[in-house]
Amino acid sequence: MRLAVPSGFATEVHVLDLPSPELLPEGPWALVGDLAVQAHWREAGLPEPEGSCWVAVTEAGKRLSTLEPWLEAWARIPLHRDATIVAVGGGVLTDMAGLAAALYMRGIKWQSWPTTLLSMVDAGLGGKTACDLEAGKNLVGAFHAPERLVACTRFLETLPPRQIESGRWELMKTAVLLNDLAWAQELGSTATPRPAWIERALAFKSGIVDRDPREHGERRLLNLGHTLGHALESASGYGLLHGEAVGLGLLAACLLAPLEGLKPFPPELIQTWAERLAPLADQVAEWEDLLPWLLRDKKGKGGTIACVLPRPDGPALIRPLPPEAWAEPTRLLRECLGACQSRSLRA
Ligand SMILES: NC(=O)c1ccc[n+]([C@@H]2O[C@H](COP(=O)([O-])OP(=O)(O)OC[C@H]3O[C@@H](n4cnc5c(N)ncnc54)[C@H](O)[C@@H]3O)[C@@H](O)[C@H]2O)c1
Repeated sequence: MRLAVPSGFATEVHVLDLPSPELLPEGPWALVGDLAVQAHWREAGLPEPEGSCWVAVTEAGKRLSTLEPWLEAWARIPLHRDATIVAVGGGVLTDMAGLAAALYMRGIKWQSWPTTLLSMVDAGLGGKTACDLEAGKNLVGAFHAPERLVACTRFLETLPPRQIESGRWELMKTAVLLNDLAWAQELGSTATPRPAWIERALAFKSGIVDRDPREHGERRLLNLGHTLGHALESASGYGLLHGEAVGLGLLAACLLAPLEGLKPFPPELIQTWAERLAPLADQVAEWEDLLPWLLRDKKGKGGTIACVLPRPDGPALIRPLPPEAWAEPTRLLRECLGACQSRSLRA
């Protein structure tokens, strides 16, 4: 189904079961795909034009050097300015292929065909493309919106449970931003992702990105869970998946909000999330190891970071806070995950 998005929105959005060739570009195109989904693509009988490449994708390989062979291959064909890149894969692949499309000939069109839950509900839409640098995640990139997003839920059938769980936390973030705690409960208690969840998250994100494409205002709310989340992800040496780190960061943000004088979230919800995240307890770095990453946060300015503080019954707030504001929530996070972990070991 084609989703209703704000009129004039840069990206056409489709949520389907099976991939469909009708949604591929009409003019010249090349594919960059994640090897993990090559079999899906071939089973669906979809074309692979000259210059297409399938690559093994990891967060550690989300570097500018990975893009260069793609760009060289496109130039050898050659692809001209009217060509389109079709990116098929998770968020790492779509972020990199989108950036490569932004760079090639100073910007050619691209389509995003996300294949993980996280990329279907978040990374594949919104035009943020990026690679990582030694100093941190997504530090080099461009705003370059895809012309079309095609989310085919059939891809999710082979996605490992840990990756489904990772995507679930970006959905949970959306439920919190929407103040829909009933949806948050459903997200926590329903094993298989529902297409309606993907549609809802994409409709929400397209609205925000349409109003604030360059993240000067409202779009910053989508960073809920990401301030401490990015620090945790980097400090874990990418042992934590992006969505796992966002889940931990979301819980920490809910623990920070009352320290900043905001209404606390229901204790049952905090407890359910802590239990769900407890298996990750050993990967939550010590405060001393997180602080250097927070100090480098790209949302930092003049000694403070624009932090998103969630509220259970109203819009989340953006407040500039010193990195040290995360010290106590980190301690509380480690404490409540540790308590859940020892309870489950005893049981
Ligand atoms: N651009 C944005 O707005 C935005 C938003 C959120 C996250 N991100 C970025 O997204 C990245 C995380 O994306 P991700 O969680 O999709 O991880 P990912 O791209 O690393 O994919 C996770 C793993 O699943 C495999 N895979 C992909 N699709 C599969 C399928 N259908 N079946 C089996 N295996 C499959 C991949 O090969 C990989 O091993 C991070 O780099 C993050 O910074 C970007």
